[in-house]
Amino acid sequence: MYNEKVLAHFKDPHNVGEMENPDGYAEVGSSECGDTMAMYLRVQDGKITDIKYKTYGCCAAIASSSIATDMVKGRTIQEAEALTKADIVEELGGLPGQKVHCSLMVEDAIKAAIADYKSKI
Ligand code: FES
Repeated sequence: MYNEKVLAHFKDPHNVGEMENPDGYAEVGSSECGDTMAMYLRVQDGKITDIKYKTYGCCAAIASSSIATDMVKGRTIQEAEALTKADIVEELGGLPGQKVHCSLMVEDAIKAAIADYKSKI
């Protein structure tokens, strides 16, 4: 069902954890399955210098969280805001159709954490 890259990120996910006093924070849930995730951002000079998350979701959600946080780490806020679930799925080498909503939860979490950051500056 899942390709090797998805399974590798699921078994050894990158950037997992929490952050004290994050510059941006959001907790979002998937309306499709009820799973949730929390996203933490550290921002310096308009760039995401660190990113952590906790995902309470399936294999696809964990793999999407891992690869998406790799993709936005070190990028500008504008670049991170432009990340879509299609970019995440492409970078993973594909997800089963019924699992694409799991990557949307990650896109939503990154965008919501950025919105939180922007609301404070
Ligand atoms: Fe809920 Fe994948 S089934 S995040």
